[in-house]
Amino acid sequence: MNVKNVLTVIILTVYVCYGNCARILGIFIVPSKSHHILGSKLLKSLAEKGHEVTMISPFPFKNKVTNYQDIFLEEMLQYKQEKLQGLLTHNATLTNKMTLVHSMFYNMSEIFLSHKKVQNLKTEKFDLIIQFALFSESYLGLAHHFGAPVILLHTLGSTPVLNKIIGNTAPPSYVPSLNSFSQTSTEMTFFQRVRNTLHIWYNYVINFPKMENLQQELLSKHFPEAPSLQELLNNVSLVFVNSHYSIESPRPYVPNMIQIGGFHVEEPKQLPQHLKEFLDSATEGAVLFSLGSNVKISSLPREKLQAIIKVLGRLKMKVLFKTEHELDGLPSNIKTQEWLPQNDILAHPNIKLFISHGGLLSTIEAVYHGIPILGIPIFGDQQMNIADAAINGYALKIDIGQLNEEQFSNVISEILTNPKYRDNIQLRSSLMRDQPIKPLDKAIFWVEHVLKYKGAAHLKNSSNKLYLYQYLLLDVIVFIFTIIFLIVMLLYILVKGLVRFVKHILRKIKYKRD
Ligand SMILES: *[C@@H]1O[C@H](CO)[C@@H](O)[C@H](O)[C@H]1NC(C)=O
Repeated sequence: MNVKNVLTVIILTVYVCYGNCARILGIFIVPSKSHHILGSKLLKSLAEKGHEVTMISPFPFKNKVTNYQDIFLEEMLQYKQEKLQGLLTHNATLTNKMTLVHSMFYNMSEIFLSHKKVQNLKTEKFDLIIQFALFSESYLGLAHHFGAPVILLHTLGSTPVLNKIIGNTAPPSYVPSLNSFSQTSTEMTFFQRVRNTLHIWYNYVINFPKMENLQQELLSKHFPEAPSLQELLNNVSLVFVNSHYSIESPRPYVPNMIQIGGFHVEEPKQLPQHLKEFLDSATEGAVLFSLGSNVKISSLPREKLQAIIKVLGRLKMKVLFKTEHELDGLPSNIKTQEWLPQNDILAHPNIKLFISHGGLLSTIEAVYHGIPILGIPIFGDQQMNIADAAINGYALKIDIGQLNEEQFSNVISEILTNPKYRDNIQLRSSLMRDQPIKPLDKAIFWVEHVLKYKGAAHLKNSSNKLYLYQYLLLDVIVFIFTIIFLIVMLLYILVKGLVRFVKHILRKIKYKRD
């Protein structure tokens, strides 16, 4: 490198990093489209603000972004299928599913931590790490190595484990635990509260320690000099959760747990000409059918698919149908395509219904654009998203196992003819848009806040310094009840003594009189 080049590099660096610019490392290695969309949306926006971003990702880099360097870990893609197969098995028990998730994340963490590209990064410097929240806690060793603060980004709402890490309060009496994929109304019956409590205990007593042991093992192996995982977890600066009160029941959040749900939704772009024409000409309205990026249409049972096509074909409306393979003999009102710009389509005024698997990002987009949902949840959090949406009155659910022509047709006509669904989702849409600051700007504000205040220790509450019995105030309750008991005992003894004394006196008086 000659002097001129060196000078150019220096000038460029000074120019690009002028002001409060920081070096930020993003770690989003889970090979799931929604993880990638959320992680890269935040990190690209930070790059646009002038920060120098390095992103470790399981998907190849497509469009170049200034200040944004992508490190592609190809090896992670092998987990894409494995994950789905395991989680698609409906009758697997919760424990079996969790075991699968633990071992898969353990293997992914091991590949990540020993990867040459990651090892090479250790010689660089970073001011902040933003990483996916769960099952990858051993990466905190990297943050420790750089002496950098950590922000966790979770792709769903808050969970018992995240609440524990950041010290958030979530009383099981009215805050439904994320994974109890059931009715999530906040007005729980007695048995729903029992179930919710047991589920949270399951997380604290079985799930969390299991994850902690596995991740501690990885941490000790790859960062022998690091403090314990527990200590590193307590040092996490902030957690972003992908939720908002427009789509989840109201609940408390500590100041370093920030809701940024909706931040991934982009301003609608112009549709490709053929889609625009198709939707513009849908004078009777249009339906969008998409089961997301993970479910293959070919994996649906044949008779279910036929029932779906038949019912959609009978509609007067036009239908955009996302499918990865050609379907034969389609009715003329249905247009299929392998990939659809979902957000831009939902923004089209002629769209009246979204038939969806109920993934969180799709649900958020539907709410944002105010389009009622017919949910066909397949796995994971989809059940819960659709249950929440149904409680809020803007969705109806069909189980794929029970789907038939008649029922599918009835549900569609109920959503299209009863104005309640549209009214409810328009209200939610308005709530989601009606915020003092856009969720993406809010996320950027908090990232820069953590950078500016070097980890923002002032946001951390001290719940992590307490033992569980102290947190639950068991010691205080025992103390107060002991005091009350002692006072009552003392009073009892006093009164008893007094009575005996009075009786004694009375007896004496009587004796004297006689
Ligand atoms: C805790 O976080 C701060 C920044 O927020 C960092 O400087 C410090 O090294 C971290 N502590 C440990 C033990 O990693």
